[in-house]
Amino acid sequence: MSRPTAVRGPAILGVDPFSRAGLSDPTAVDTAIRETAAVVWSPQYGVWFTGRHEIVEQVFRDYETFESSAGTGLTNTKKSENWRTPSVILENDPPGHTKYRRVMTSILSQRVVRRLTEDFQRQADDLVDSVVGAGEFDAADLAETFPLTVLPDAVGVAPEGRRHLLPYSNLNFQAMGPHNEFYDAAVAAAEEASAFVNWQMRRDALAPGGLGQTIYGYVDAGEISEEDAGMLVRTFLSAGIDTTVFGIQFALKALAENPDAWSALRDDPALARKAFEEALRWNPPSPYIGRTTACATDLAGTSIGEGEKVIMALGAANRDPRRWTDPDEYDITRDASGHLAFGTGIHGCVGQMMARMEASCLLSALARRVQTIELAGEPVPFYSNWLRGFEALPVRVTLR
Ligand code: HEM
Repeated sequence: MSRPTAVRGPAILGVDPFSRAGLSDPTAVDTAIRETAAVVWSPQYGVWFTGRHEIVEQVFRDYETFESSAGTGLTNTKKSENWRTPSVILENDPPGHTKYRRVMTSILSQRVVRRLTEDFQRQADDLVDSVVGAGEFDAADLAETFPLTVLPDAVGVAPEGRRHLLPYSNLNFQAMGPHNEFYDAAVAAAEEASAFVNWQMRRDALAPGGLGQTIYGYVDAGEISEEDAGMLVRTFLSAGIDTTVFGIQFALKALAENPDAWSALRDDPALARKAFEEALRWNPPSPYIGRTTACATDLAGTSIGEGEKVIMALGAANRDPRRWTDPDEYDITRDASGHLAFGTGIHGCVGQMMARMEASCLLSALARRVQTIELAGEPVPFYSNWLRGFEALPVRVTLR
């Protein structure tokens, strides 16, 4: 007589990544996601998580099965009400995505980034000079001030509205997670910010000669509509600022905690780029990216139905011991390429050269002026559903 086969359900995720406790201990959440199974089900949120490097990479690359047009957060934006019109690039699939991607790739090309470098470096040097003399300062502020100045200037954003940019982008990322206390606080803080960004996206609101106006050049060339151009300007303001701020913060924290890494950077400021890259592997500022299945599929032996959400845990993948040696160590001598902090595949971060250049300018400026750096107090985490970083990062420095 044949025995009935036991029906095994999916592996269950036993932690809440978006609770205060979960957000306070991201490494524990990442480990639970990655080590429970290759693909785990969160009954609480009704989504799948995956945190193994190989599987995350597979999901990123298979854009036909794992779509972006239903949103890259927790919710299926085709079925729910959204706080804003979906992005034409991030929340889009081919063929629609391809045209906008081409425009943004040329707007953020190596040539453009190189042209901006000298001015960014000068501003980084001035900013570092203005803070390090105090001996103690908040490195979270330093990491915030720089990208929040240079990127909006390069885009052509009106200086008087700059205070709206972080609340706006905070809401953008909080909204990708559950509608919890962190989301509610972000909504309250961003009341005026959306109106400002909606105005700032317009052609006549952008300073002449900036990257924003360059996007409108594609309208004049007949390639995209006026409305599309506004949406692409918006991506600079939602995707490009706090991600870079938090990436630089993790680099500064890692360097303050690892004197050998700091000495190596101080002796050779050209290592700034490597120091940043390893910081992004060690702690990706944007730790989750969601996709929605276009059809029923099998992922690492788990059956997933059509229209289900799969959340890739980049922090988990970036410390997967199956892929990295001593993954919890911050080691600027390692080859960190292959980390997934910028994603990969057709949606892989189009602003990554810009982010690397900004971080290199700031870290190398510090390396040229500072002899030693250490933490001067407990870092205060910034609570966000969809980003990781710090509210405060007190450091103490001695000068060269
Ligand atoms: C350290 C800083 C940054 C991090 C960690 C980061 C992270 C990411 C990630 C993970 C993606 C992939 C999203 C997905 O697959 O759904 C992405 C896409 C994107 N990023 Fe970044 N980003 C950073 C900086 C920037 C900057 C500086 C800009 C603009 C100047 C930018 C603009 C974009 C845009 C427009 C996309 C969408 C690309 C597409 O869908 O084709 N990012 N970013």
